Amino acid sequence: MKLFVYHTPEETPRDRVPDCAVVIDVLRATTTIVTALDAGAEAVQTFSDINLLLTTSEQWEVDKRLRLGERGGKQVPGCDLGNSPLDCTPEVVAGKRLFLSTTNGTRAFQRVEAAPTVVAATLANRQAVVNYLQAQTPETLWLVGSGWEGTYSLEDTVCAGAIALPLWEKFGDDILGNDQTVAAIALYQQWQNRLLDLFNLASHGQRLLGLNNTADLKCCAQIDTIDAVPLQIEKGVLSKH
Ligand code: MLT
Repeated sequence: MKLFVYHTPEETPRDRVPDCAVVIDVLRATTTIVTALDAGAEAVQTFSDINLLLTTSEQWEVDKRLRLGERGGKQVPGCDLGNSPLDCTPEVVAGKRLFLSTTNGTRAFQRVEAAPTVVAATLANRQAVVNYLQAQTPETLWLVGSGWEGTYSLEDTVCAGAIALPLWEKFGDDILGNDQTVAAIALYQQWQNRLLDLFNLASHGQRLLGLNNTADLKCCAQIDTIDAVPLQIEKGVLSKH
């Protein structure tokens, strides 16, 4: 296994895809996806283009679908929900297809959708994803943070480090594919017992706090609480493994 961390989708090489790509958007798209699938959603279909989301979801029965849209941390008008994992209770999402478009996370999925295996990861399902990767041992593995509009974000890189650390401990130095992997591990080692404090410092954490999303930050800082491993079953569509 060779492991590469990319802080943003823009940082990933354009001329190839890995055997397995793990997309990370802790605040909040992949936390929402993991929570929704764990709560019984049929699947989550991701879109970078909100208009395409609206037209595609028209083809689904109204009571079998939910439209989730977020831009700049706020709910998109015309959508049923924004991008809060706290909205994704079994009562709300069970049996439904979720159509999701967010500022950065859904663009990250689009960037790696050609990879044979695409996984959605966040802190909540970190251990489940590590178990999956240790069992599958893909030859090339990318951990791709969603960042914020092309720039680095602390919460995605710390989660990449939380996934990379046990893989490094198991497989050794040979798996380290780039310098970002070592940096991500160091970030996690420094902050692993103070993840919420880190999120309070992070620029997108501060944006969400400014929008009164304190409870979302707390929820997204939980680690190893969910067993679901969302896998791409067709381009842009994730379902529970
Ligand atoms: C994103 O894709 O940038 C987000 O998940 C933003 C958010 O809803 O907090």
